[in-house]
Amino acid sequence: MPVEIAVIGAQRPFVLDALKSEFEVHDLIGAPDKVAALQPVGERIRAVATNAMTGLSAEMMAALPQLEICTIMGVGCETTNLARARERGIVVTTTPVLYDDVSDLGVILAMCACRRITAADRFVRAGRWLEGRMPPARKFSRKRAGILGLGRIGNALAPRLQGFGMTIGFYDPLPKPDVPWQAYASPLELARNCDILFLTAAGGLGVRHIVTAEVLDALGPEGVFVNIARGWLVDEVALVEALAEGRLGAAGLDVFEHEPEVPEALLGMDNVVLTPHIASNTEETMRAMGECLLDNLRSWFAGNGPVTPVA
Ligand code: 8YV
Repeated sequence: MPVEIAVIGAQRPFVLDALKSEFEVHDLIGAPDKVAALQPVGERIRAVATNAMTGLSAEMMAALPQLEICTIMGVGCETTNLARARERGIVVTTTPVLYDDVSDLGVILAMCACRRITAADRFVRAGRWLEGRMPPARKFSRKRAGILGLGRIGNALAPRLQGFGMTIGFYDPLPKPDVPWQAYASPLELARNCDILFLTAAGGLGVRHIVTAEVLDALGPEGVFVNIARGWLVDEVALVEALAEGRLGAAGLDVFEHEPEVPEALLGMDNVVLTPHIASNTEETMRAMGECLLDNLRSWFAGNGPVTPVA
């Protein structure tokens, strides 16, 4: 009897093809009400394949009494009820192979925001160079970087920034005794002591707005804010206001509070670089993430346990 699995979050085509050839797949990616869609097959499902944005809620788990393993494409776990999974003994796995790409995008966004690369591109395309030179931008190298959330992404980002001669400060709620960088006691203290603030924190269940209006004001009119974490970790209304009023210098944003909606006001701002949640979206990394998800399922059903379980 083939193992039956439910695919509830979008997957790359090669992942879906592999799943379909190795398991009996119930494809519920497009189902508007996933709990209802799980009801007729839920009794037989032993595994779930989801992604970081869809996750697996406690309600969905309740419809899956035989569930053994939930594999997430991505590393974000805030949409998956980990506490409930633990109680039920359901193994949860992620695909922790995206740290290069996400931290690369942090550098790119900061660099583009400082040097106004997207504004410069628009300047050339609009023929404005013919009327005169573009005003100076801001230097990127040798700035003071602040890393808010020193997990695996923050740890991958710091040495990249050091390569540009930056000093590194960080804030993390957990003690980090073994790192050579300057720790600050709060996001506010960090913002007061850096030029470029990188948000790299994990978006846990119920955690919101760790970057407040006060933090943005501390960063100030010369400061740059970069978000490669989650939109709802920032007070987005305050962010838009601070940028519009010149209280914050510039921003590079890959994530937003209500994706794929982006606040209208940001679209017209020249001091903002916007990308559509693409931090891990390279061919190489998407392939590695897909392979990692498949490896977890294969290993589990071969009786060898998960490969990359969530701690
Ligand atoms: C995912 C993400 O790649 O892993 C995460 O937490 O935010 C993304 O980079 C994307 O959501 C696909 O699952």
